[in-house]
Amino acid sequence: MARLLITGGAGFIGSHTCLVLLQAGHDLLVLDNFSNSTPLALERVSALAKLDVQSSQARLQVRRGDIRDRAGLDDLFSTAASAGAAIDAVVHFAGLKAVGESVREPLRYWDVNLTGSRCLLDAMNAHGCRTLVFSSSATLYGYPKDVPIPETASIQPINPYGHSKAAVEQLLHDLAASAPNQWRIACLRYFNPVGAHPSGKIGEDPLGTPNNLFPFMSQVAVGRRKSLQVFGGDWPTSDGTGVRDYIHVIDLAEGHSAALNCLLAEPAQLLTLNLGSGQGASVLEVVHAFERASGRQVPYEVVARRDGDAAITVADPAMALQRLGWKTQRGLDDICRDGWTWQAANPAGYSDQG
Ligand code: NAD
Ligand code: WQD
Repeated sequence: MARLLITGGAGFIGSHTCLVLLQAGHDLLVLDNFSNSTPLALERVSALAKLDVQSSQARLQVRRGDIRDRAGLDDLFSTAASAGAAIDAVVHFAGLKAVGESVREPLRYWDVNLTGSRCLLDAMNAHGCRTLVFSSSATLYGYPKDVPIPETASIQPINPYGHSKAAVEQLLHDLAASAPNQWRIACLRYFNPVGAHPSGKIGEDPLGTPNNLFPFMSQVAVGRRKSLQVFGGDWPTSDGTGVRDYIHVIDLAEGHSAALNCLLAEPAQLLTLNLGSGQGASVLEVVHAFERASGRQVPYEVVARRDGDAAITVADPAMALQRLGWKTQRGLDDICRDGWTWQAANPAGYSDQG
């Protein structure tokens, strides 16, 4: 079992991964500035992991702070080491992720995503912690030439968010090449993470109007929004709507656990893996699955295509199976059932309850 630093651990993917890592027996220290999350998510993770007050202090420590604060990182690594609980590895979720916002605010995206990652890596290096799982994204593939998309497909980001992720991947390659026997790194390229923990206690809670299909559709089903706009009905797909590879967030969390186990057990390496299901679903297939799971109607209208969208994005997940023995266990119906359990129990997200 390891002692792990989880940056951005209060966020959507981070909170679910914290739970899975606690259940796997790891001890966690979460660093988050809560710019897009709330400490309440971690209180719920602690309750789901059945940690009492005493074990919670030891097994799930939470520190408010920014990954760009180099002195703060030094203090964090030193304090952990001097308490006899040195950090063995880092799972790095902290970052900004909204594509449209990245087009409007490229400086902020490069600052948090690239400068923040560089600062974290610098601190890790200085403190001799050289094992990292990094949240990368299928957004790197831009408009893919072939689907399913293998990891060898060309990297062609089409927005500042994607460029910032590609830059971090490049930095990780350069770092690994500079000290090949030292760094253990996994770049995990997520496809479309959705759903929630089946308890309905933790889930996705975007600020303001959601940009993405699942949270928008859930808010329509629960009555917070009137109707869903389906972006394009004339794509070259079976029903004319866009096709994506939706991955249950618990499957994704388990992928992180598997990647960590692999890095900790094997010699130093840099792994780059797609985390997806290998199955595509169209927007209308998703809407109908969600209607079945929720028993609610999701009114929608088909409108013009959204700028920057691809027709079909589906992972080739073979490499993750081969290297980690990991594949998704949950399908679209599980995703919709668990996503609806969360939305129905928390119609206004975490702000619903104290
Ligand atoms: P999220 O916004 O829910 O979580 C990110 C967390 O990082 C939040 O808790 C936020 O408060 C924290 N954070 C942001 N800036 C920080 C900073 N400077 N210092 C410390 N903490 C900071 O997002 P998520 O969906 O959980 O995504 C996690 C990671 O996965 C991100 O790096 C994202 O780019 C990547 N990713 C997400 C998706 C997706 O569709 N959700 C897909 C591919 C990759
Ligand atoms: C899915 C499908 C839309 C909203 C995004 C990021 C990507 C990655 C994952 C971080 C598409 C359609 C959507 C709506 C719709 N994130 N849609 N109406 O764009 O595949 O991926 O999240 O790394 O970088 O770009 O996800 O959920 O926005 O869209 O019709 O209101 O749903 O056109 O076909 P996307 P999404």
